[in-house]
Amino acid sequence: RQRVFSGIQPSGNLHIGNYVGAIKNWVAIQERYENYFCIVDLHALTVPQDPKELRRKIREVAAIYLASGLDPERCVIFRQSQVSAHAELTWLLNCVARFGELSRMTQFKDKARKEGTESASVGLFDYPVLMAADILLYNAHLVPVGDDQRQHLELTRTLARRFNNLYGETFVVPEAMILKTGARVMALDAPDEKMSKSSPRPASYVAILDDPDTVRRKIRRAVTDSGTEIVAREDKPAITNLLDIYAAISGKTVPELEEQYRGKGYGEFKKDLAEVVVEALTPIRERALELLESPRELEDLLEAGAERARKAAAPALHAARAKMGLG
Ligand code: TYM
Repeated sequence: RQRVFSGIQPSGNLHIGNYVGAIKNWVAIQERYENYFCIVDLHALTVPQDPKELRRKIREVAAIYLASGLDPERCVIFRQSQVSAHAELTWLLNCVARFGELSRMTQFKDKARKEGTESASVGLFDYPVLMAADILLYNAHLVPVGDDQRQHLELTRTLARRFNNLYGETFVVPEAMILKTGARVMALDAPDEKMSKSSPRPASYVAILDDPDTVRRKIRRAVTDSGTEIVAREDKPAITNLLDIYAAISGKTVPELEEQYRGKGYGEFKKDLAEVVVEALTPIRERALELLESPRELEDLLEAGAERARKAAAPALHAARAKMGLG
């Protein structure tokens, strides 16, 4: 069986972009693969976090994974920081990765520009190497992610190939799995910006845990384009984004939706979209809130997952160490 690896940072509020770009797809494919779904808490530390809040967010992500339908019988669900091999392989890969290629990562450049490059943490710079370690440790074949992770996946492939060339065949060269719909959900209030967990503007995203009235209000207030037509087109970025979300959640295609809403107004379209989103999120939200009432059980589940992950990660770490002369 081929292996799948993916992860989400426990920072900010998980939103419908994370759901349709990642989690929904993980749930859909889980029966076909051996799956590792990680809560990448070490990645979250690359920007300042409040320790108490971080601890709460980690459980929240675990609850959302389970509530969305990931089955712990089929998926190893765990926290990155509970498997020390991630940090250890990162160091080995740091010595294979190049300063120049990390400097060209657009996500780093964007974030560093916001924080000021001088004060950005070294962890933020090194973030893609930790991500490569996550994936290569499990010899994952497939990495289901949103479009914004494409460049990081390319770097992971480069590092795997370079390591294999330098030291002999060691790692599987993984492939990104990026869907056509929902892979790049844009902000509701600014369709030229990616929907982001760390946005200071709650109106820019629908959180997975937003209650139904909040979801309805946010979608009602989402910006639209001039004109009245409901079509996906370059000059209609806002409507294109709403159609993409609608398609990703409902399973209908964009052309089907364009047909369905021909001659209808933005108001009716948004109202229906809100109901489709509410219908998808309500069971997830309710189940997640229920799970969060038993934090002990969530912690136990994560510890059991970490135990399995440690076993699965050991051979690749051992091989990498030995090949580099540390065995
Ligand atoms: P993160 O935590 O920012 O996002 C989690 C997942 O959600 C996807 N995503 C989106 N998809 C569609 N539209 C959006 N607006 C949107 N925003 C986010 C992301 O592409 C991702 O799939 N570096 C990763 C976490 C990571 C990881 C890994 C992923 C660490 N190690 C190993 C895969 C494999 C990140 O920050 O994702």
